[in-house]
Amino acid sequence: MRYKVDFLVIGSGIAGLSYALKVAEYGKVCVLTKADASESSTKYAQGGIAAVMYDPDSYEKHIRDTLVAGAGLCDEKAVRITITESTERIKELIEWGTNFDKKNSGLFDLAKEGGHSEFRILHHQDNTGFEIERALLERARNHPNIELKENQFTIDLLTQHHLGEKVTRHREDIKCFGAYVMNKTQGSIDTYLAKVTMICTGGLGNVYNTTTNPIIATGDGCAMVHRAKGMLKDMEFVQFHPTSLYNPTEHPSFLITEAMRGSGGILKNLNGEAFMGKYDRRQELAPRDIVARAIDTEMKLRGDDYVFLDCRNIDKNEIMHHFPNIYAKCLEIGINITKDMIPVVPAAHFSCGGIVVDENARTTIQNLYAAGECSRTGLHGANRLASNSLLESVVYSHRAFLDSTKKVRQTEDFCDAIPDWNDEGMVLNEEISLVTQTEKELQLIMSNYVGIIRSDLRLKRAFDRIGLIYKETEELYQRSVLTPKLCELRNLIANSYLIIKMAMQRKESVGLHYSIDYPPKS
Ligand code: FAD
Ligand code: SIN
Repeated sequence: MRYKVDFLVIGSGIAGLSYALKVAEYGKVCVLTKADASESSTKYAQGGIAAVMYDPDSYEKHIRDTLVAGAGLCDEKAVRITITESTERIKELIEWGTNFDKKNSGLFDLAKEGGHSEFRILHHQDNTGFEIERALLERARNHPNIELKENQFTIDLLTQHHLGEKVTRHREDIKCFGAYVMNKTQGSIDTYLAKVTMICTGGLGNVYNTTTNPIIATGDGCAMVHRAKGMLKDMEFVQFHPTSLYNPTEHPSFLITEAMRGSGGILKNLNGEAFMGKYDRRQELAPRDIVARAIDTEMKLRGDDYVFLDCRNIDKNEIMHHFPNIYAKCLEIGINITKDMIPVVPAAHFSCGGIVVDENARTTIQNLYAAGECSRTGLHGANRLASNSLLESVVYSHRAFLDSTKKVRQTEDFCDAIPDWNDEGMVLNEEISLVTQTEKELQLIMSNYVGIIRSDLRLKRAFDRIGLIYKETEELYQRSVLTPKLCELRNLIANSYLIIKMAMQRKESVGLHYSIDYPPKS
């Protein structure tokens, strides 16, 4: 099938939906999502969304905290844009129907997380993302100009390459005309022609074997833009969340929100000794890279598989009102968090790098925008400040909306010369188990060699092994009838390659990239 839309939005998390709701006032919008519409990292966000709401907080304080967490590598312009636009974007989320918790006084019940000098995290209990996704989806589903299509797997972006032209990374006039998309229900591969394409495909946590990310987080957007010869940056800065629930049979790992440390939770080793004081004066509320590394070091020194988060000192009322879902989840596996300590380990959580965008969310490919976790705005630098990513998504989706509605008016025609997908010579792939095995192999390589602590030797090892996996998978891809699993594997490999390559180029330890060969200067 061939479709034509003004705005093609790939992804139905906070970035995609908040953009779609705005551009829908200016043209026909199609939102594609590879699973059920709600399945996204957004849905699982716990802690909340950071924004400056009241005194004594100020934009300058939030800006300073973000810059400190980013370890000197943030783009200050992106930081200023995001923080100074935070209050407006929160008002919009509320107008769209999102409920954030309030105190008896009627003021928002703001929480605190690592690296924040003030209480500024708006939340809805401990399932803020679920509430935001609910509100946005409800609105999008009822909008007459938005068509929301589930189980549509975007394979690749359409550019001049599909017109038979040579497209290299040095070309400055690469244009996006839409995308090839697999309809998972019907098995067809459809052509979507669009005047503007917006990528909001989320994170890449499944590059690692332990992650808080849902299974949809396979870095598809980053891989597609890389293949289309767009620019990506900062991929080496993968954030490991310090505290995911240690429950080895569960995938993805269940998150224990940082807000619990903000409310007084203390990290302890298996002897029950608090240890964060040895690593940072801010202790449990140091930025995430520091806390995750401290836990990793503590586990390695003692040969333990996990550490504890002790929340027994948090008021029971606070647990029941602010953290009811974590309480219920832990109870399910026999842990009563008001009486027992919670076993936790770090897990891959967030990609600070991604598709390079400017202050209007424009990528280096014309007519192609990106927002949310797949994008690299420069806000996070070498390490993201907690709860800044939901905020970044709404701020840059808004900016993309302002810019792309102008763009759509200037673009008169669709690129009708784009051919339909050609699957001649493809055979049914009976070796599907190879795809699953290769994915596991890849995740182990990344976790063992490209995790929290890195070295030149480990990175080289990972690079060589991924090279072999790449070759084998490309051969399979060239001759097989495509499946979403095979496409995702290809994308995971591309993301792994980019993470390793950029990690190898960085000859220093900074923020989330820590190499024993280049110890930190101070
Ligand atoms: P997502 O919400 O992940 O949406 C991606 C969408 O793209 C999905 O709809 C997916 O189906 C679709 N998609 C992907 N690939 C394709 C494809 N090939 N074809 C079609 N569709 C595709 N951040 C905070 O600021 N505060 C928090 O409290 C917080 N807590 C978190 C807790 C957890 C457990 C996790 C995992 C993350 C948390 N984060 C938090 C990070 C934050 O949730 C994400 O960065 C943010 O939600 C990303 O939004 P997004 O719209 O970019 O992507
Ligand atoms: C959390 O709730 O700890 C996650 C917050 C985030 O990832 O920003």
